[in-house]
Amino acid sequence: MREFTYSSHPSQVVFGTGTLNRLREEVERLGCARALVLTTPHQADLADRAGEVLGPLAAGRFTGAAMHTPVEVTEKALGVAKEAGADCLVAVGGGSTTGLAKALAVRTGLPQIVVPTTYAGSEATPVLGETENGVKTTRSAPGIRPGTVLYDVDLTLGLPVPLSVTSGINAMAHAVEALYAPQANPVTDELALRAVRLMASALPRIVADPADREARAQALEAAWLAGTCLGTVGMGLHHKLCHTLGGSFGLPHAETHTVVLPYAMAYNAPAAPDAMRRIAEALGAPDAPTAVYDLVTSLGGPTSLAALGLAEGDLARAAELATATPYPTPREVTREGVAALLRDAWSGGRPAPADGLADTLHTLTRQVVASFDGAADARVRELLTGLVRRLHGFVADHDLTEDEWWYAIGFLTRAGQLSSDTRQEFVLLSDTLGVSSAVDLLTNSRAAGSTPSAVLGPFYVEGPPALDNGADLAEGQPGTPLHVSVRITDLDGEPLPGAVADVWQSNEDGFYDVQLPDLDGPALRGRFRADDEGRVAFRTILPSEYPIPDDGPVGQMLNAVGRHPYRAPHLHFMITAPGRRRLVTQLFVAGGSYIDGDTVFGVKDALVVDFPVHDGPEGGPADGLSRSLDYTFRLAPAHTPGEQS
Ligand code: BEZ
Ligand code: FE
Repeated sequence: MREFTYSSHPSQVVFGTGTLNRLREEVERLGCARALVLTTPHQADLADRAGEVLGPLAAGRFTGAAMHTPVEVTEKALGVAKEAGADCLVAVGGGSTTGLAKALAVRTGLPQIVVPTTYAGSEATPVLGETENGVKTTRSAPGIRPGTVLYDVDLTLGLPVPLSVTSGINAMAHAVEALYAPQANPVTDELALRAVRLMASALPRIVADPADREARAQALEAAWLAGTCLGTVGMGLHHKLCHTLGGSFGLPHAETHTVVLPYAMAYNAPAAPDAMRRIAEALGAPDAPTAVYDLVTSLGGPTSLAALGLAEGDLARAAELATATPYPTPREVTREGVAALLRDAWSGGRPAPADGLADTLHTLTRQVVASFDGAADARVRELLTGLVRRLHGFVADHDLTEDEWWYAIGFLTRAGQLSSDTRQEFVLLSDTLGVSSAVDLLTNSRAAGSTPSAVLGPFYVEGPPALDNGADLAEGQPGTPLHVSVRITDLDGEPLPGAVADVWQSNEDGFYDVQLPDLDGPALRGRFRADDEGRVAFRTILPSEYPIPDDGPVGQMLNAVGRHPYRAPHLHFMITAPGRRRLVTQLFVAGGSYIDGDTVFGVKDALVVDFPVHDGPEGGPADGLSRSLDYTFRLAPAHTPGEQS
């Protein structure tokens, strides 16, 4: 037998279309004659409409309602209410406007008539959250709950789709938590399940057609029922997490509810199997948390805390705050468990179905991580721990199949088998996934004023032939002649005589020498030494765009995602000088192909350089055109942060 206590809270609820027109009737029913109309600045037109309906019963208006119910705003509104001699409050809007009505009511005892325009549900609860000097406090008292609510479906027709989705899932969260709250009872159970069912059915139709009146009516009814549940029973882990993320990290209210709900459900699922089974049934799916996640995804709603702007570094603190004074929830709340929950919500992967596998997987991850405890080098331990956590998380988030795993093993095996002294498939993989550019950014971009670096690529060869200043790097190779003159300086523009510059580039057809087995010895690569003015000059040919080698697994990957394999035309430089940080970079030909779509994400604006065209007898092709390049490289001091040994 189930024991429970149930108390109901009488209020007048009017539900329908065009119900705003019944405002005057409701004010009169309360025996009032001087209504103060409240809205946000955005919704001032609704104050006009309410004023028209109220006619002589409209005593005044206040259109300054604001998010989080700031006390200063309430005080201003109090002044307006007094001046108008208001004997009742009419709030038309979302949670902010309802919040203001509650804040005024608790101070004045005036009756409230609330006309909600979102699915927030605040109109059905006795809870008031207010902010003063940036601090949010919440209180609950029977007098805070509005006595009259007019639900007018017409007013929700214009609610933008993204807000309809997040506000709708926010309402669903009230219903879900009501089903496993300690105060749950047969009445709230039925209300909550109906709310879940109605909202899940309404939202896809609203996304398809925001003006679908029937779907809007269902969503609004669901919001009322869910709000009623929230106003009757207590809140659980989900609400605690959302309050923490909103209050201490400034995350937006409805979006945060939308992201967190599936993960909070997945956390509670093992300890609330009955509630989850009933929610799953209401959603017509085998597993409740994943069904909510899939619903949000299909509606285009947000699914990760990262996308809402939460920094990864804030996760630990959020877990600490959310577990310090937890709300009652079915599963024991542990810091570790909530930290894992928040990490999952931060990454945004699909929660694992609630079949106990998730726990087993976490245990496995913990065991593997613990196996690194004996590592002599702390950095080795840190990197392996992070890698294993992410790899296990990846496997779980995507429910990786054995076939997919074997495919990945085969892919890496082929990459290894193809690699040699002159072919580096792993570097290509790293480059095309943007990892090389990410490492390059973190490692080399910390010295302000220095020339930006760019990826090394797989075609550098140690010990290139030493060439004299002024030499011809191309040695008769066909192509548009290019005259290069570069200066190598420190950050103040002082020349660095004796600096060593290794240069390498592709030929006119886009190949490097190491890709041409018939070629005898190095071509289009050389080592120069800067003269007393820090200058290096040489002749060569204009580099052309070229495809990275795409006859291996990396090429298959590019093909599978419809990507081209091309690099924008560029010259490579590796520059060293005593007491200076080594600079590995590339200069890109402005106006060249693929500048905006380089397949290894290597182009940086500051490295896109004009190669002016000259018309004259340069010993080049018949048309006599040649190009030139004039550039100054600025090298950072060797002790710049991020330096590698
Ligand atoms: C290159 O510029 O030589 C290169 C860089 C990354 C991948 C392939 C080639
Ligand atoms: Fe290159």
